Amino acid sequence: MKHLITTKDFSKEEILALFKDAKEFLDEKPRELLKGKSITTIFFENSTRTLSSFETAAKRLNAKVLRLDVSRSSSSKGETLFDTAANLDAMNPSAIVVRHQHSGVPLSLAKHVHCPVLNGGDGKHAHPTQALLDLFTIYEHFKGDVRGKKVIIVGDIKNSRVANSNIELLTRFGLEIILVAPPHFMPKTSLKQFYKLDKNLIKQSDVIMSLRTQTERHQKQIYGSLKDYANDFCITKDLIEDQKLIILHPGPVHRNVDISDEVLADERSLVLKQVKHGVAIRMAALKKVILEQ
Ligand code: CP
Repeated sequence: MKHLITTKDFSKEEILALFKDAKEFLDEKPRELLKGKSITTIFFENSTRTLSSFETAAKRLNAKVLRLDVSRSSSSKGETLFDTAANLDAMNPSAIVVRHQHSGVPLSLAKHVHCPVLNGGDGKHAHPTQALLDLFTIYEHFKGDVRGKKVIIVGDIKNSRVANSNIELLTRFGLEIILVAPPHFMPKTSLKQFYKLDKNLIKQSDVIMSLRTQTERHQKQIYGSLKDYANDFCITKDLIEDQKLIILHPGPVHRNVDISDEVLADERSLVLKQVKHGVAIRMAALKKVILEQ
């Protein structure tokens, strides 16, 4: 059984094959590849992009989608996650997509069900399809020539499952990662790290990946204000000037805190292209885990 819990679940060769499929799926044409299959989505944490992206992907492949509304499910009456899973499993879905605020839930779930489980994000741990779509966006932009490209990851890295998954995946594909964050957002790591975002650093980079400040994961407010944070870490036109680079963000973007309005509107900002690529990558991932069993 093939699950997608972390990016490590797919080898480099499998990821390149996934990108090949995703590139074809960018035409957005409906396909019959998952006709007769059913996909259950169960999101215990809010989502705009990932949930709708997985559901769009499933529908474009002609699968049926059952969305379990957690607020109306028996989880809210005290049913354990694993009893919920056992009941969903009894309905024989072809795959389950789960998001949970606690790290490790998708892996535990995978041990209790008889179908592939795809992780839509678990706590601070992993967000594999986000990292895959981010690498795919970089891969498409540089026409496959990604080895040695310098990626600055800026923001609340320590609390970010997106950063965790990207660090594993991008490093494996030979990209160089540089972390930029205030000390309290910096994880313990041997990667190059800086506590300040300056023009010299940006001049050396090919990609800037900005991350949201994950205020919901902070025990207490650990900076003066978002304005103070933005003064040091917001991606502005003054910082990037006319340099040839691309800017990514997984969303949701805190405008003028993570990235300025002006830079978001700049053609080097690929934030909406990431969303488009996300559907294609999730189509490829659903196809892979369901059909390659
Ligand atoms: N990128 C991402 O995970 O966004 P959502 O929280 O809206 O799904």
